[in-house]
Amino acid sequence: MAQVTFEEISASDFFYRNRDIAGFTNPTRAIFAAIRELVENSLDAAESLKIPPEIYVRLSFEGEASKESQIYKLLVEDNGCGVPPRHIPSAFGQVLFGSKYKLKQQRGTFGLGGKMAILYGQITTHQPATIISSTGMSRIYMYKLMIDIQRNRPIILDRKVFLNKEGWRGTVVEFSLEGDYLRAMPKILEYFKQTAMVNPYANLTFVDPKGRLYKFTRATTIMPDPPKETLPHPYGVDVELLQRLIQVTPYNNMLEFLKNHFHRVGEITARKFLEFSGISPSKNPKRLSHEEIVRLMHMLKKFKEFLPPDAGCLSPLGEELLKTGVLKELKPEFVAVHQRKPATYAGHPFIVEVAIAYGGEIPQKGGFLIYRFGNRIPLLYDEASDVSVKVINDMNWRRYKVTPDMPIAIVVHICSTKVPYKTVGKEFIADRPEVRREIANGLREVTRQLQRFLTRREHVDRERKRLGVFSKYLPRIAEFSTKLAGKEKPPDIEKLLRSVKRFGVEGI
Ligand SMILES: Nc1ncnc2c1ncn2[C@@H]1O[C@H](COP(=O)(O)OP(=O)(O)OP(=O)(O)O)[C@@H](O)[C@H]1O
Ligand SMILES: [Mg+2]
Repeated sequence: MAQVTFEEISASDFFYRNRDIAGFTNPTRAIFAAIRELVENSLDAAESLKIPPEIYVRLSFEGEASKESQIYKLLVEDNGCGVPPRHIPSAFGQVLFGSKYKLKQQRGTFGLGGKMAILYGQITTHQPATIISSTGMSRIYMYKLMIDIQRNRPIILDRKVFLNKEGWRGTVVEFSLEGDYLRAMPKILEYFKQTAMVNPYANLTFVDPKGRLYKFTRATTIMPDPPKETLPHPYGVDVELLQRLIQVTPYNNMLEFLKNHFHRVGEITARKFLEFSGISPSKNPKRLSHEEIVRLMHMLKKFKEFLPPDAGCLSPLGEELLKTGVLKELKPEFVAVHQRKPATYAGHPFIVEVAIAYGGEIPQKGGFLIYRFGNRIPLLYDEASDVSVKVINDMNWRRYKVTPDMPIAIVVHICSTKVPYKTVGKEFIADRPEVRREIANGLREVTRQLQRFLTRREHVDRERKRLGVFSKYLPRIAEFSTKLAGKEKPPDIEKLLRSVKRFGVEGI
């Protein structure tokens, strides 16, 4: 009989073997994903301090790898919060290590993105990554790292400390990787453009391997309020989470336990719930048996009187900023934006923001241009699987006199403490009925505004034509009738023309 061997693999080993899951499928996708992951981290880092991000990305050519792919050096610098020195090795050299495992709206959630980029660089070039970071205190730290893939541990090859005379704060990440920039270029440039659209307060600079400079300059320094951390909502908990809370809780009765570890559960709600579920308020949570914990979870989901999650912890872009971003990057003739009221799915609060833009520099290409965002990250792949696209396809556009051959761009932004991504590569959003409903309602609202704009424009066009006819023939008629009447002076046509101008077409 053949011998079966069992073994355990580390988290880095897992992602090394399954790079596709994180979006590092081939040299084209990989170079795009690497840039995106590092830029996301930089945006998070600057926003956590409510500082307008200043991000510099440089991709330079290092050498040839094969016919299709080449070796590049990627450098990303930001003015964000920096990483405390003792965390630098793990933050950049240990998969599934991060500071963002909190119920808070931010781009990073998995503790994986930056490391996947570095890991990919390592396995394709065998070169270490260099990280330079300072939290703005008296020192700047430099680490040269590699990842021990089998043990999922950072290997520190070099470490230097410098005096921070200038008070610099931020992070620089630099490493080599194999990629196919030429193929990836359209997506990378699109990524920067769309990032600039939903982060209109950021300065983004990108220097490509040919030395071409792409600059996306901020249109405002106003930033949305940073998201706040929040407690889990009772509708969103599972047994694992309950167990973890029970382990760490300093409270020794159920009443205090519920009040202090759950979102929007106060004294009254907690008491009502305990009565509903037949649990004594004085019961010590640490004494709950496994069966009781499972029952507690079911009861939490069944109880109808919990207040919905408060979206105060979310940080949507806001209608003004969304409008600024769309006007800045798409330069349309018309734009309507709308922010939906907060909603929830499975205990997670979320807010949908939508925009519809028409005309101007938007190309007419036989279909709508669709821009999708999750927590201010542009989603550029797998469009067909995304919930927004399904909603857009299902919408009855004819009702609004809108047709796909019009120059129209649609923007959908979903922000949440937990965006329902389908993959860790954050490419598309799952089809949750609650999310679908919010997007549909948002779209209806902005499309109604577009319809009003189009109807008015059509009306103005018609009037313009009508007046054109009048102003062409009226002078002749006047001349004619003056002659017929045997008068010298023709009547004042201007007055007549003014009288046939209808409401809404002043100034024509
Ligand atoms: N430019 C940066 N400035 C400050 N901290 C950073 C920066 N880049 C990474 N970090 C820190 O390193 C951690 C790991 O980053 P990484 O991208 O691997 O995971 P993540 O952002 O937490 O989650 P995700 O997998 O969704 O990207 C972050 O949680 C953050 O604490
Ligand atoms: Mg990240």
